[in-house]
Amino acid sequence: MIKVKNILCIGAGYVGGPTMAVMALKCPQYNFHIVDINQSRIDAWNSDNLPIFEPGLEEVVKEARGRNLKFSTDVEQGVKDAEMIFVSVNTPTKTFGLGAGEAADLQYWEKTARMIAEVSESSKIVVEKSTLPVRTAEAMSRILKSNSKDISFEVLSNPEFLAEGTAIQDLLNPDRVLIGSEQTKSGLQACQELVNIYKEWVAAEKVLTANIWSAELSKLVANAFLAQRVSSINSISALCEATEANVEEVSLAIGTDTRIGSKFLKSSVGFGGSCFKKDILNLVYIAQSYGLQEVADYWRQVIIMNDYQQERFVLKMIKNMFNTLAGKKILILGFAFKANTGDTRESPAIYVTKKLLEEHASVIICDPKAIESAKIELKDCKGTIEYEIDPYKAAEECHAIALMTEWSSFKLLDYAKIYKSMVKPAFLFDGRNILDHQEIHKVGFNVYPIGKEALTN
Ligand code: NAD
Ligand code: UDX
Repeated sequence: MIKVKNILCIGAGYVGGPTMAVMALKCPQYNFHIVDINQSRIDAWNSDNLPIFEPGLEEVVKEARGRNLKFSTDVEQGVKDAEMIFVSVNTPTKTFGLGAGEAADLQYWEKTARMIAEVSESSKIVVEKSTLPVRTAEAMSRILKSNSKDISFEVLSNPEFLAEGTAIQDLLNPDRVLIGSEQTKSGLQACQELVNIYKEWVAAEKVLTANIWSAELSKLVANAFLAQRVSSINSISALCEATEANVEEVSLAIGTDTRIGSKFLKSSVGFGGSCFKKDILNLVYIAQSYGLQEVADYWRQVIIMNDYQQERFVLKMIKNMFNTLAGKKILILGFAFKANTGDTRESPAIYVTKKLLEEHASVIICDPKAIESAKIELKDCKGTIEYEIDPYKAAEECHAIALMTEWSSFKLLDYAKIYKSMVKPAFLFDGRNILDHQEIHKVGFNVYPIGKEALTN
């Protein structure tokens, strides 16, 4: 039986960093070591300038770092020293070969599994933290057990449900923790070791144990269901615009039905982020590979609807700005895929910006935390792109504003002042429905919300 004292996490990203920092904070009796092959990321974790922006993260890291939490690039030594290893490396959508555009790219994950098998000198519990296709643990076990040494490995699946922007709150107070294991004596013992860690701060009834395949599949399904709600309400936003219904009134009316619930019914320019699209595509690919074409088509529609919502947003801009954007300057207000993060992966702002550039508009991008990531996302784009952190300066001489991220600071801006500095007629397309549209209309703007009547002058 493996007794755990030293815990390693491979992958110091959006999941590995915050997850281990919170565990270290809550479990001072264990040692936590987070490793990554990316030296600059590790340097940032060891500095005052953390590599990711997440409310509350800095305080947690400052308290635990140097006590029972350390960051390094010494992956192999980390593996040797640990009894439990979380694998939290990236698992993006495959861009080449079989399954390109749908299947998960498991190369980082497999390299990690092989490396663990190679360098381990004692038995270990290996925990899948990354989101992986169902039955990946089987492959993980086979790679680990193919080592010739006289040591054993137990593989657990412990998918992470945190959302960016609220990661620390989600980790401190999760709806549930899910741990899948093999239903053998040693599998259940390994599972108990991980349950013991979570029980330090999570109520026992919230720690769910399951068979390993259910745990792996549940993560993909949770993301698919959440994204499906956003696509469902977004499909209705198009119908609202055509019928003079108001999507916010519809959301409220259906969301107050306790069987439906109010969350994830906010209509928007579309969902973004590193998880939803990738995980649904992964589910689609798995369904297809089991010959379940109807199941695959059903879930693919969630993504088709999301693409349509982004396309519809740009078409609305073109149509209402007299069918031409050439030579017009447009402010992209917000570039992150959601508020309270600097993450721009799969942000709808990327699609919208690229389409506007194709129309020969010039764009200026303003975001409180995502300007550096925006520069990387758009580095290969042709056309005029400027970046400006000050929204007032950014709006000067613009023909239109496209609001892409629901940063609360954008609600507090002085839109009368902004209007004055813009080219008239001035347009505002609120891709997140966060502004007071009546007020902004009074100031002089032509306002185009999502799923609600436009207010024009
Ligand atoms: P990320 O890209 O931010 O971090 C992954 C890290 O792993 C990178 O820093 C990379 O350098 C490192 N890495 C890759 N190969 C390595 C190796 N061989 N050795 C050491 N380090 C290596 O990714 P993320 O957003 O943290 O996501 C990680 C996993 O968690 C993914 O499977 C994702 O689907 C899942 N997940 C993400 C979120 C989220 O909100 N971002 C939420 C839940 C689950
Ligand atoms: C998601 C899941 O919520 C989380 O449980 C999982 O672990 C990782 O994937 P994340 O991508 O960080 O988290 O953010 P989330 O809050 O789910 O938002 C995803 C996208 O949907 C964002 O672009 C957000 O703006 C959009 N969204 C969300 C809407 O457009 N409307 C809503 O009502 C909710």
